[in-house]
Amino acid sequence: MSIERAKAVLDGARRILVFTGAGVSAESGVPTFRGGGGSAVWRGMDATELSSARMVGSDLKLVWEWFEYRRGLLASCGPNPAHQTIAEWADRFSDMTLVTQNVDGLHDKAGSRDVLELHGNIWRGRCLACGALERLDDTPLPEVPPSCSTCGGKHRPDVVLFGEFLPEDVFKRATAAAERAEVCIVVGTSALVFPAAELPLVAARNGASIIEVNPEPSGIGGPLSIMIEGRAGDVLPRL
Ligand code: OAD
Repeated sequence: MSIERAKAVLDGARRILVFTGAGVSAESGVPTFRGGGGSAVWRGMDATELSSARMVGSDLKLVWEWFEYRRGLLASCGPNPAHQTIAEWADRFSDMTLVTQNVDGLHDKAGSRDVLELHGNIWRGRCLACGALERLDDTPLPEVPPSCSTCGGKHRPDVVLFGEFLPEDVFKRATAAAERAEVCIVVGTSALVFPAAELPLVAARNGASIIEVNPEPSGIGGPLSIMIEGRAGDVLPRL
C-alpha cells in the first residue's frame, strides 16, 4: 500500500531530492558500513584509522594500498536496478537532484549526471600540492601514491576521511536542493551520520514529503511520511 501512496505523491511532483547511502549499492555486492557486525580490519589495522586524515599525513602509501584493496573489490561491482531507476528519473522530473554518501561511483556508472557526492569518489585523486582532481580508473594503479599529471605532486584519495569536513560547495548545493524539494526519497541509509543526515530533515522542515526505501526503518523517525520496507533494487523500479 505504501508503494501506491508513494507513487501518487511522486506523480504530482516536479522537484525531487534523492538521497542515497550504502544500501543502494548493497545489491551490487558492495558491503554497507553498519551491516557487517563490527568494525572492519585490514592487515591487522582498524579501517577507520586507515581512512583517517591523520594517516594521510603519516603514511600516504599505506592509505593508497588500503584504497587499492577497496577499489579492487569495487572494480567488479556494477550498478543495479536501483541505480538505473534513479538515473532514469532525471528525465521524469523537471528538477531532480541526486545526493549520495557513497564513494563507489555506481550512480555515475548507471548514467546519472551531476551527482552530488558528499563523501567524494574513490575513483578520483586530489593533488596534495596543487589541488587538481584527476580520474584514476585503473586498478591496480601503475604507481602508489599516484602522481598528479598537472604538477607531479602526490595525489590523495578524493574521499572525505574521518576527521575531515564535507566539501562545502557540494553540501551547500545539496542543502539548496533539500530546501526546494517537494519530495525527498531516502534510499538505503541508516541516516545516522551528520551532517549528511540533516538533508531529509531540512526537506521536511520546508514542507517536502519524505519517502524512505529500506528493509528496516532508519534514524529519520518523525518527519517520515511514507516508509516502504524493501530492497532498493526491488522497490525503485516499481515506483
Ligand atoms: P550504513 O551502513 O550506515 O546503512 C546502510 C543502510 O542500508 C541500512 O539502513 C540498511 O538497512 C540499508 N540497506 C541494506 N540493504 C539494503 C537494500 N538492499 N536496499 C535498501 N537499503 C538497504 O550506510 P550509510 O547510511 O551510507 O561515511 O552510512 C553513512 C556514512 O557512514 C558513509 O557514507 C560513511 C560512513 O561513515 C564516510 O565514509 C565519510
